[in-house]
Amino acid sequence: MRILNASGCLDALTAPDVARSLDAFVSKTVTPLPREGNAPVRIAETDVGMLNSIGLANPGRNAFIVETLPRLRELGVPVWISVGGLAAHEYAETCAQLDDVTIELNLSCPNVEEAADTAATIVAACREATTLPLFAKLSPANWDISEVARAVQAAGADGLSLVNTMRGTALDEATLAPRLGTWSGGLSGPALKPVALAAVYACWRATRMPIVGMGGVMTGRDALELVAVGAQDVALGTVLFRDPDAPQRVRAEIAAELAALGIADVDVRGVAHEGGVASLLSLTR
Ligand SMILES: Cc1cc2nc3c(=O)[nH]c(=O)nc-3n(C[C@H](O)[C@H](O)[C@H](O)COP(=O)(O)O)c2cc1C
Repeated sequence: MRILNASGCLDALTAPDVARSLDAFVSKTVTPLPREGNAPVRIAETDVGMLNSIGLANPGRNAFIVETLPRLRELGVPVWISVGGLAAHEYAETCAQLDDVTIELNLSCPNVEEAADTAATIVAACREATTLPLFAKLSPANWDISEVARAVQAAGADGLSLVNTMRGTALDEATLAPRLGTWSGGLSGPALKPVALAAVYACWRATRMPIVGMGGVMTGRDALELVAVGAQDVALGTVLFRDPDAPQRVRAEIAAELAALGIADVDVRGVAHEGGVASLLSLTR
C-alpha cells in the first residue's frame, strides 16, 4: 500500500520534507486558466471535520507546467497531477501537455456535471489525449457511485480516487450566519470516513480497479479499513493540516494494527468483502 496526500491538502514546495515522506505527491487541481478561488472565509472547523470553499485556486496550467512542475519533480517522489476543467476538451488539452506523471481527473469540480455520461465523456476525451495512467476522482454525492465507476472504467480510466468532499454548511454560533464566504463548502475529515468506506466498497465490487481511498483518514486503523473494503493505496487529506508527520505515523500504526490482528504479512485488500479477517485466519492457520 502506498501513502499519498489528497489533492489540495499539501503544498509540497513549502513543505518539501512532508512531500518526500509520501510514496507519491498529488498536486492541487490545475485548471486551464488561473483561478483566484472564492472570497474569504474559505475554511471552517466543525465538530466532525472541516469545511473548505477554496474554489480551486491555482495558477493555471501554463504557469503550473513551466514553473511549478519542474520544482515538484526535484522532490524525488513520483508526481501525480490533478487535472480540472469545465468541459471534456479542457481536461484533454491539459492531459496532452503532461509527461511522466500519473493524472488524477478531478471529476468533482464546481460546475462540472456529475452524471455518469459526463464523467465518462471527460475520461474518454482524456484517454484519446494521453497514454499516461488516468485515475478518475469521483464525488460521493451521487445516487449510485458504482455506476459512475463502471462508466469511467469503460471509458478507459486506469483507476479511481475515492472520495472527494461533500457539500456542507456551518453557522456562526453567535450570529447564526454562514461561516464560509460561499455559505457552503466541501466537508472533509472524520465525518467523511463512513461515506468513503461505502464508496470504495461499492466501486471495488463493481470494477475491481486500483483505488486510492481517502476521506477522514486520521489513523492507521482508518487507512486499513479503506484497504479492507478494496483500496490499493490511501491518501491523507485534512489530517495533514493538523499533523505533518501523519505519513510516518499512519504507516507505523498500520503495521501495529496488522500485528495485533495476527496477520502482519497478509494482504488484507478487500477482506471486508469476504466477511472480515476471519477468512484470512482460516487460510493462514
Ligand atoms: C483545503 C482543501 C482543499 C482541497 N482541494 C482539492 C483539490 O484541489 N482537488 C481535489 O480533487 N480535491 C481537493 N480536496 C479534497 C481532498 O483531496 C480529499 O478528497 C478530501 O478532503 C477527503 O479527504 P480527507 O477527509 O482526508 O481530507 C481538498 C480538500 C481540502 C480540505
